[in-house]
Amino acid sequence: MISAEHEGWILLLMNVLMIEVRAEKFFSYCNSVMRDPDNFRDRREAALHAADIVDRIRIDEDIHVAYLQCFISELRSFTFLGQDGQRYEGRALIDPVWEAMIEWHAVTQADEARAQARTDIRARILAQPNGARIMAEFDAAEGLATAAE
Ligand SMILES: [Fe+2]
Repeated sequence: MISAEHEGWILLLMNVLMIEVRAEKFFSYCNSVMRDPDNFRDRREAALHAADIVDRIRIDEDIHVAYLQCFISELRSFTFLGQDGQRYEGRALIDPVWEAMIEWHAVTQADEARAQARTDIRARILAQPNGARIMAEFDAAEGLATAAE
């Protein structure tokens, strides 16, 4: 409908937004670990300093999330002139692409990354002298973690 160049830019910016959102989730996770008084009990001051540094990065990153959210949201309100001369509501163009982008980042990519990480971990464990036993414990622990969810 729209030019490949324009479509490419929209996809790129949607992808960057998802990366920014994932980064924010990771910053939040890191801070929850570092600010938990049960963690790093012998290095609380250093852990809190690290959390403060992450908070400064989060502040710097906030504007990236905000402008991308604004840009993509605004596109939904636009009317696009397609290469075929037809007019298209922005939401009709944006929403399906956005939903697919979320599915890819939240499900597809996460599942692929998990499978790859497990393969890498397995290879490292099995390279140890007692790797088979450790791998059995790892598999058992994974089973416990899954059952607890
Ligand atoms: Fe950023």
